[in-house]
Parts: sequence; structure tokens; C-alpha cells
Amino acid sequence: MNKIPVILDGDPGHDDAIAWVFAKASPLLDILAVVSVSGNQTIEKTTINARRICALLGIDAPIARGAVRPMTADPFTAGNWHGESGLDGPAMPEPDQELSLLPAVDLMAEVIRESAEPVIIISTGPQTNVGELLTAHPEVKDKIRLISIMGGGITHGNWVPGAEFNILEDPEAAWIEFHSGIPIHMCGLDVTEKAIIRPDDFPRIRAVGNQVADIVAGWLEFFYKYPMAIGYEGAPVHDPCAVLSITHPEIFRIERYYVDIELEGEYTRGATVADFKGVLGKEPNAACSVEIDRDRYVDLLIEALHYYDGREVPIG
Ligand code: BDR
Ligand code: CA
Repeated sequence: MNKIPVILDGDPGHDDAIAWVFAKASPLLDILAVVSVSGNQTIEKTTINARRICALLGIDAPIARGAVRPMTADPFTAGNWHGESGLDGPAMPEPDQELSLLPAVDLMAEVIRESAEPVIIISTGPQTNVGELLTAHPEVKDKIRLISIMGGGITHGNWVPGAEFNILEDPEAAWIEFHSGIPIHMCGLDVTEKAIIRPDDFPRIRAVGNQVADIVAGWLEFFYKYPMAIGYEGAPVHDPCAVLSITHPEIFRIERYYVDIELEGEYTRGATVADFKGVLGKEPNAACSVEIDRDRYVDLLIEALHYYDGREVPIG
């Protein structure tokens, strides 16, 4: 069976990093490119993190630096969740490959054009790179099979009551994406806040006993502290849902809605508004994951980590 060609687009970020752990370990996916975006931290920090994660996991696809800031909005970062580096916690290997000379949108367009099969973009940060790609290279649209995102929430937000961090960071880019006609799979907070990894799962992760598992456990030991302090039962590990929606759709409950992006609104800018009752009479543009089998999620993480048995890279 042919593997599904994918582009990983994210702002790592602990949960972006764990999403990429799943993606590299999956026998179903072929990673064509990795692109960074500003979000959890500045573009300098998310880009170095992306390069270090690729070195750790053995992802040998080209890596490009993405958008420095949202398309029109003012940027903000999430150091409270991800720390000063954007990926605080265990020491990481140094990058083992140079950045692509192309900006992210041009690398994305190039690999999509050259791919024999339509490509899935897995986007786990602000949607800026996707918005800019569709604006600068509209001709590649027909070769994008699906955009699988972590973003939004059809019932609630996190950064503000009505909006989730990734969409709030760049609502204009998300608007372009949701109006593009490209199928969207949306993992919003509805599902990702149920994708909790709890401190009592950490010993199982460490017991896998390889270097990647140790680092993932270290990331989680850092990443769970802030959400626990504000009332979560552990770490909501959001971003892997955007990968698992492709590789393991059976662990989710998925509902199809027409979803639009609020660009105005004192309290609602960046909201993903789902037409639950179909009052607009529009065809659904998004398949929304709303429930997850959490225990299976943790089992799948353990399975994915065993892919890295025997892989060891120098740290520091
Ligand atoms: C999203 O925001 C980021 O902090 C996480 O990496 C995730 O993509 C959750 O709102
Ligand atoms: Ca992210």
C-alpha cells in the first residue's frame, strides 16, 4: 500500500513534538517536509525546536522556516504552557540538517507539486503557513487532499472564552483555509482537552526504555505542570489528535459541520462557529473530532514509542 504523503506544519511546542513522534512512527505516513510557524514561541525558537525534534526522531525530510508572524494580527506566545524555549524540559540533540533555502510556503508548494499523490497537511500551530500557501500558490489547492488541524473548539475556547490559541493567533489565515474548499479535519478543544495524559501514565512511558520515550516523558513532566495548576487532570496533549485522526480515525467520534471563523467580535474573534443545526443550509466544510478513546490514545503512544527502540542520538 502507498504511504500517504504529509507535510508537518507546527510551532513546537511539546504537543507538536509528540504529534511528530506519532507521525514518524506511523507506517502509513510519508513525511515530505517539515515547516515551522511562530505561535507557542517566536519563529527562531520554534524553528530550532523543529530541527532538534527532526534530529531526535530521524526525520530526514527538508525543514523550512515558516511565518514570522500572523498574516495581519499581532503575535503573542504561550511561554506559560511551553516555557521560554517553547520546548522546555529535557536536553535535546543539536540539529543534524541545515534549513531549506526556501521559505516554508515555497517548500510546501514545491513538495505538493512534485508529489505523485495528493498531500495531507497536518497543521498543529497557527494556520499562517497554510493561509499564505493558499494565497501565494493557489494552483496547488487541487493537490491538497486534506488539511488536518489542531485548532479551534466548536463549544469553547481556551486562550479567551470564545477562541482557542491557534485560531486566535491568526484568524485571517484560518478563514482562508476554512473557505478554501479543501476538506478540513478539525481537532478542536472539544476532543483535544479529552486527550489527557496524566502523571500516572508517565511511568508506563518511561518504561518503554528508549531515548525518545525518556524525552517524551521529560516533555510531559514539564508540560503537565501549568495545566494541572489551572485545574486539568494532567496534560491536554492536543496536537497528536491531528495525526491520529488520519492514522486511527476509529478512536474518535467525528461529526461533520459547516464551520466558519469569526473575524470580528469583542469576545469572539478567532471563534470557530459550527452550524450545529444546519440553519445556514451550507454543505459541511469540516469533519470535527469531538470524542476520543483516551485509554487507546495512551496505548497508541506506547506503541509509537517502541518504533524508536534501538535509536540513540548524541545529546547536547
Ligand atoms: C494549541 O496551542 C498550543 O499551545 C498547543 O501546541 C496546541 O497546538 C492548543 O490550544
Ligand atoms: Ca501547537
